[in-house]
Amino acid sequence: MKKLLGLLFIVLIPFGAVASGGSNENLDTVHIDLSDTKSLQRGARTFVNYCLSCHGASYMRYERMAKDLKISDSLLRENLMFAADKPGELMMTTMPAEGAKQWFGVVPPDLSVTARYRRPDWIYTYLRSFYIDESSPTGWDNLVFPNVAMPNVLYRWQGGRIANFSESDGNKHFEGFEQLQPGEMTQEEFDLAIQDLTNFMVYLAEPAKLVRYRIGLWVIIFMVIFTIFAYFLYKEYWRDVR
Ligand code: HEC
Repeated sequence: MKKLLGLLFIVLIPFGAVASGGSNENLDTVHIDLSDTKSLQRGARTFVNYCLSCHGASYMRYERMAKDLKISDSLLRENLMFAADKPGELMMTTMPAEGAKQWFGVVPPDLSVTARYRRPDWIYTYLRSFYIDESSPTGWDNLVFPNVAMPNVLYRWQGGRIANFSESDGNKHFEGFEQLQPGEMTQEEFDLAIQDLTNFMVYLAEPAKLVRYRIGLWVIIFMVIFTIFAYFLYKEYWRDVR
């Protein structure tokens, strides 16, 4: 029996390795769960309503997203397709690149694979780190992306905050945010909404992961069952020898 436990342990090692991998930057940690379809659906709704006006996600088609996230055709057409006529279309932004460059000084980048190079924790922290800055062209600045050209588009949800800094040795130290105007959401609700949105952006960056997750689970179940069989087979073979 000890041997059986030992074998099971070896089978399960990769899980521990994945679970303990993380970033050591000064970012808040986000809980990503691609098996939480409801969370992905809420994230998709926020993304289509608040982000697609400036950013594209031009590697993704509406119908693929609907299929992966179990969104019905009617819901897709009525609530999620403001910027397209047909479900087969790519998720392009409606904003012309020329105009965007004029308005923001930069073209808002395509967000298809952002979660891959920026990492989920960064996106989660970034979207929750806007603060009012009268001296910036948009009226906003961001703690993890200083002088960012993007305004706080979720301002109505989060409300308006300023950031307090102290100075010592010529360095600015962040002391904390101060809420000036309340938002429509509480801090917890807002954090959850951004968690869902980040979850969705992780899916967006690698849709095949959803499929791999499902296959992965079956592989593990198979390996556990196989290990048990192998153990009994091993005992059977060696019974007469010893
Ligand atoms: C009004 C236009 C506008 C809207 C709406 C908008 N953004 Fe942006 N966003 C920008 C611009 C412009 C930049 C580029 C900032 C820069 O380079 O200074 C940007 C940058 C970003 C970045 C950083 C990308 C990178 O790797 O540098 C992320 C992430 C992002 N936006 C996410 C979002 C999300 C999520 C939403 C929806 C909640 C959203 N944006 C809505 C204009 C917008």
